[in-house]
Amino acid sequence: MNARAAKPVGTVTRGTTNPNRLRRMDRWIAATHGAELRRADDPVAVDLGYGAAPWTAVELLQRLRTAAPRARVVGVEIDPARVAAAKPYERDGLRFRHGGFEIPLPERPSLIRAANVLRQYEEAELAAVWARLCARLAPAGAGTRGGLLVEGTCDEIGRRHVWIALGPEGPRTVTFATRLGSLDRPSDLAERLPKALIHRNVPGEPVHAFLHDFDRAWASAAPYASYGARQRWIRAVRDLAANWPVVDGVARWRQGEVTVRWDALAPRA
Ligand SMILES: C[S@@+](CC[C@H](N)C(=O)[O-])C[C@H]1O[C@@H](n2cnc3c(N)ncnc32)[C@H](O)[C@@H]1O
Repeated sequence: MNARAAKPVGTVTRGTTNPNRLRRMDRWIAATHGAELRRADDPVAVDLGYGAAPWTAVELLQRLRTAAPRARVVGVEIDPARVAAAKPYERDGLRFRHGGFEIPLPERPSLIRAANVLRQYEEAELAAVWARLCARLAPAGAGTRGGLLVEGTCDEIGRRHVWIALGPEGPRTVTFATRLGSLDRPSDLAERLPKALIHRNVPGEPVHAFLHDFDRAWASAAPYASYGARQRWIRAVRDLAANWPVVDGVARWRQGEVTVRWDALAPRA
């Protein structure tokens, strides 16, 4: 038997991160995936590519535990120096491991979160990476839809975020999330589209049509701005939902979010 560990799958990339950067994503996961985490025998969440400092993994644990008190988090990083730097932060429910897209755990996780990781890869690599990660998720079964892969991108301080959620069967939804006070128009979020969509924001592609319609709904909702940006967003999303398969409701819209079915935004080719 070869005693050496296999080489992790992937490439070391920039380690930029920030405290509280992923709060919007964490809260959405706790709200929408909390019940699955509570039901799991051993609810393990992976923070894949947590970066030069372990803040996002520490915070993921705190936020998941509000929804699922038995949740534990494993931070997985492909840069061994970043793993060594994170080790002192291990605590009850939090571990750090060297690894990559193979996900070096014996368990199949209830959650894999990969934030600001895949934008640094080539678009052509994406399908294989998604397939590999989805195959590592806890499987669907009686009373469970299985684990969730949440893969997306945000700005440095987490004001603008777009992420895709995938189950063991493949992509399910796309979520747009923003600090409403910082927004001129919904298409400001285009610069944060994940790798699968960023090169598709061109005429003829669904994501381009979606953002165009969203901007139009936002403009029509301008009179609601006097009640605040939140009311304007809620009104705009309500209009948008007449033509696009919006899957969430006003409780999430109030947070400056909207979630749409993946098949409506998926690239054409
Ligand atoms: C820009 S940082 C993102 C940090 C954190 N997730 C955030 O959003 O603030 C990307 C990190 O992903 C790591 N990374 C890239 N490919 C990886 C892979 N295949 N497996 C694990 N980590 C990976 C890089 O080494 C880098 O530290």
